[in-house]
Amino acid sequence: MPNTVLIGSQWGDEGKGKIIDVLTAQADLIVRYQGGSNAGHTVIAEGEKRVLRLVPSGILHAGKVCVIGNGVVMNPLDLIEEIEMLRGTGVECRGRLFVSTRAHMVMLYHRALDKADEAARPAGKKIGTTGRGIGPAYAAKVSRSGLRCGDMLLPEFPDLVREQVAETNLRLDALGAAPLDAEEMARTYIEAAERLRPYIVDTIPLIHRADREGKSILLEGAQGTMLDIDFGTYPFVTSSNPTSGGACVGSGLSPRRIDRVVGVVKAYTTRVGEGPFPTEDFGEVGRTLAERGHEFGAVTGRPRRCGWFDAVVARYAQMVNGVDFWALTKLDVMDTLPEIKICVAYELDGRRIEEMPASAAQLARCKPIYETMPGWLEETSAITDMARLPLKAKAYVERLIQLCGGRLGILSIGPARESTLRVGI
Ligand code: GDP
Ligand code: IMO
Ligand code: MG
Repeated sequence: MPNTVLIGSQWGDEGKGKIIDVLTAQADLIVRYQGGSNAGHTVIAEGEKRVLRLVPSGILHAGKVCVIGNGVVMNPLDLIEEIEMLRGTGVECRGRLFVSTRAHMVMLYHRALDKADEAARPAGKKIGTTGRGIGPAYAAKVSRSGLRCGDMLLPEFPDLVREQVAETNLRLDALGAAPLDAEEMARTYIEAAERLRPYIVDTIPLIHRADREGKSILLEGAQGTMLDIDFGTYPFVTSSNPTSGGACVGSGLSPRRIDRVVGVVKAYTTRVGEGPFPTEDFGEVGRTLAERGHEFGAVTGRPRRCGWFDAVVARYAQMVNGVDFWALTKLDVMDTLPEIKICVAYELDGRRIEEMPASAAQLARCKPIYETMPGWLEETSAITDMARLPLKAKAYVERLIQLCGGRLGILSIGPARESTLRVGI
């Protein structure tokens, strides 16, 4: 398989975990390149469901090597928990999971800051974060005061933690939150460092060696295009670059070594947390999608907001990511809808617009302009061949791809590995 970047093209939870798992069969090395344990990637393989937050979703295929790249913010305690969870279900990470020495760490004090910061924001300004400390960890990275995974290997590591806690306590105090115990924190992280030591390596030569040897590299994005710190609905975004450009800076693989981009896109739209969402449906349709699609956050359990497919979002995702192939997921969720709408453009202040506005305030004023298609009212989840897809379902899929540009590569009609129709890839 050519070196592939896989991205989410909406507001996250498009089904990236499932598609990564499917594509891993043809990959050798799977690299997570951004985000942290705010991600929740669900994989259902051999009848067992697992939610991965930091470990690449390729880990469930025996023998594949997985990397947590430098662009990820890695929470040592969450990673230990995930390694244990995997071990408990018969998947051993030791020897085939490697964490970049350059990846920054998310510490308990970042979580405390994340929560205090959200609590201090007035109504209307809250982001609805996952509370995992992601924003404060990336802020520490950019302000050049963060700790990186490689620091865990240094003898002075406990002192570095104590320093950070002292500095964080000043900020927590200003936000009206309780201070943290530096000694307890140092103890926690000394133990975590001991346990993670075998996994921490310089991943840049590892990735480049694999590439030189002609191995296939699959770069796994978390979140989605509309949550990108640059391209998303700022400030209602995450703090990293989930888009395909982020794959290079988050892994150390040159853009010249990327062969193609796969965009994962849901057949409808969902969003968790705050921020504008033009096609959000507060009625029967939204409820049907949420119930049939089990749209509850894999990390926080929060209900996801649901609505019709937004082709303005998908076209924009095509532009900023350069999607070659689409992996269209969750078509089966729409099986019972008699009529289906697609948002093809917006009306903003009385004018029709086709492009994504840069301002979240403008997007919040956008009204979707819909075209309507008939539903297929047939079950699709048992289909094993594209040719057997109901004609109306086929017409819907074709219209989506026509609106998005690029080609259809995968059609997903159920959460399990088997419920996948490969088309072009
Ligand atoms: P990710 O964050 O992009 O990996 O997506 P999540 O795992 O958070 O959410 C996707 C959810 O949809 C998970 O519960 C998956 O098991 C499920 N899923 C993925 N693809 C399909 C599909 O084609 N049909 C249905 N019904 N469920 C799917
Ligand atoms: P996966 O990889 C959906 C959302 C949060 C919030 C905003 C900022 O599973 O698709 P953060 O904790 O990152 O500072 O929160 O981003 N968010 C996600 N929404 N899927 C995700 O990941 C998300 N990761 C963050 O709900 O609105
Ligand atoms: Mg998710």
